[in-house]
Amino acid sequence: SPALDATICFTEEQEALVVKSWNSMKKNAGELGLKFFLKIFEIAPSAQKLFSFLKDSKVPLEKNPKLKSHAMAVFVMTCESAVQLRKAGKVTVRDSTLKKLGSVHYKSGVVDEHYEVTKFALLETIKEAVPEMWSPEMKNAWAQAYDQLVAAIKSEMKPSS
Ligand code: HEM
Repeated sequence: SPALDATICFTEEQEALVVKSWNSMKKNAGELGLKFFLKIFEIAPSAQKLFSFLKDSKVPLEKNPKLKSHAMAVFVMTCESAVQLRKAGKVTVRDSTLKKLGSVHYKSGVVDEHYEVTKFALLETIKEAVPEMWSPEMKNAWAQAYDQLVAAIKSEMKPSS
């Protein structure tokens, strides 16, 4: 796909901004991840229905370990995608992983709007987590890394077999 083949110009400085802020957020990653997903559900309450483990769960949302781990995955993979973008000019998640991510999100009914709300919530969460570091450049760096990762996932969003 064009989005994947294009050489993305992601600078050393942009990579450094993402890595620096992630290093500062890491220690609170669980808590931040939760905040991040509560923001998503505040904007788009119906998104909760996508998650099989939330549908029939008696555990309160904010105590669900699977929600925390999904939130962490988004943070960690976006950060890794920034590093890959810098090194390779594209997102290079291992092939099977990308295929799996594409098929899981396809089957769960995740659509463009969900990725957009999630992007907004991600940037808000980071802004609130590291206000002293936050800048338009940092926002742009995270946004670009996220967009590229999502483009890579979307390119694999089809039934797996
Ligand atoms: C599952 C990552 C965006 C909803 C997953 C899994 C990972 C992941 C690692 C587990 C896959 C597995 O079972 O092996 C990501 C990343 C994202 C992203 C890196 C963006 C950069 C989203 C968005 C939504 C979403 C925007 C919807 C708001 C889901 C759902 C599942 C899932 C519903 C299946 C959960 C279940 O029922 O077990 N995601 N995700 N994801 N993700 Fe995402």
